[in-house]
Amino acid sequence: MTELLQLDDVQMVFERGWIRKRRGAWAISGVSIAIREGEILALAGESGCGKTTLGRIALGLLRPTAGRVLYKGKDIWREKGDGLRPTGQLVHQDSYSALNPVRTVYQTLSAPLRRYGVPRNKLKEEVKKLLEFVGIMPPEYFLNKYPYHLSGGMRQRLVFARSIIPKPGFIVTDEPVSMIDASLRLSILDLMLKLNRELKIAFLYITHDLATARYFAQKGKIAIMYLGKIVEEGQMEMVLEQPLHPYLRALLSAAPVPDPEIARKKKLIQLKEAEPPSAEAPPPGCRFHPRCPYAHEVCGKEEPSLRDFGEGHRVACHFVDTLPPWRLI
Ligand SMILES: Nc1ncnc2c1ncn2[C@@H]1O[C@H](COP(=O)(O)OP(=O)(O)OP(=O)(O)O)[C@@H](O)[C@H]1O
Ligand SMILES: [Mg+2]
Repeated sequence: MTELLQLDDVQMVFERGWIRKRRGAWAISGVSIAIREGEILALAGESGCGKTTLGRIALGLLRPTAGRVLYKGKDIWREKGDGLRPTGQLVHQDSYSALNPVRTVYQTLSAPLRRYGVPRNKLKEEVKKLLEFVGIMPPEYFLNKYPYHLSGGMRQRLVFARSIIPKPGFIVTDEPVSMIDASLRLSILDLMLKLNRELKIAFLYITHDLATARYFAQKGKIAIMYLGKIVEEGQMEMVLEQPLHPYLRALLSAAPVPDPEIARKKKLIQLKEAEPPSAEAPPPGCRFHPRCPYAHEVCGKEEPSLRDFGEGHRVACHFVDTLPPWRLI
């Protein structure tokens, strides 16, 4: 199967100010990811590790300072130096700012439908079909509503309805459910699964929440990012059942679980430092070593590369083979 979207050794350095232009902030340092047609890839990591930046690069909204972005095998930045049109759609957490507040539901969807060639006399029918498809029902009731009339979940459904009009090959969702009431989160993730199954749309699901990542990308892949690098990746089930990188293990051990019995028994992996180091001056060697409870001398000197531990489960750690066996409780 061919890759739909491929980021090849991508790097992003943001220049800081005019005077000290030379000292840039490294947001992404050599990341490679690939998404096949109809595949789901979850990208997880803590705040500031570069997830949004990577998402914008994947969409062609941001030109990486080095590396290649390929869509269906074509380098999107090589053609005439301007890049092709953005290749996917973006859905971010704030559905309110994504929608024009003075446009009704009908106007929000009919304008892009018109642009994509739907004749005027078919517009109302198509808008209703779309609303039904994303679960905004009954459609007639919502046609003349404004975004402020809708709940957060409904607004996010509307944003998804609009995002599928150009028939995108993939959608980048940046924390799409983090501003939505917990009780409605699953229904929005289910809507995304429907778009994936029925329209074969691939997803890059950006989040810091492993629980929603696991639910949404259960049959897909996950990549764990730490300070601008991927430290572990592979099939979701394999990676979360048998996490190898100490950072991922720490994340899993700190994640809340609803069962109080398990929560009490859980062994918390204590990090040496709670705060991540600055992305502007990442530590030498393995970037995680100042916080890693298993770090040895070599970790501060040599940067570990991503090694394959079977079936595409790849990990960047010098001491994978000597870590204690993983168990949550
Ligand atoms: N336009 C920009 N100019 C300068 N620095 C930037 C810019 N955008 C992002 N950065 C820096 O790049 C790093 C990665 O930022 P990014 O927004 O991609 O992180 P993130 O993983 O999405 O975080 P969060 O979970 O908080 O959304 C940060 O150190 C940030 O300060
Ligand atoms: Mg972000």
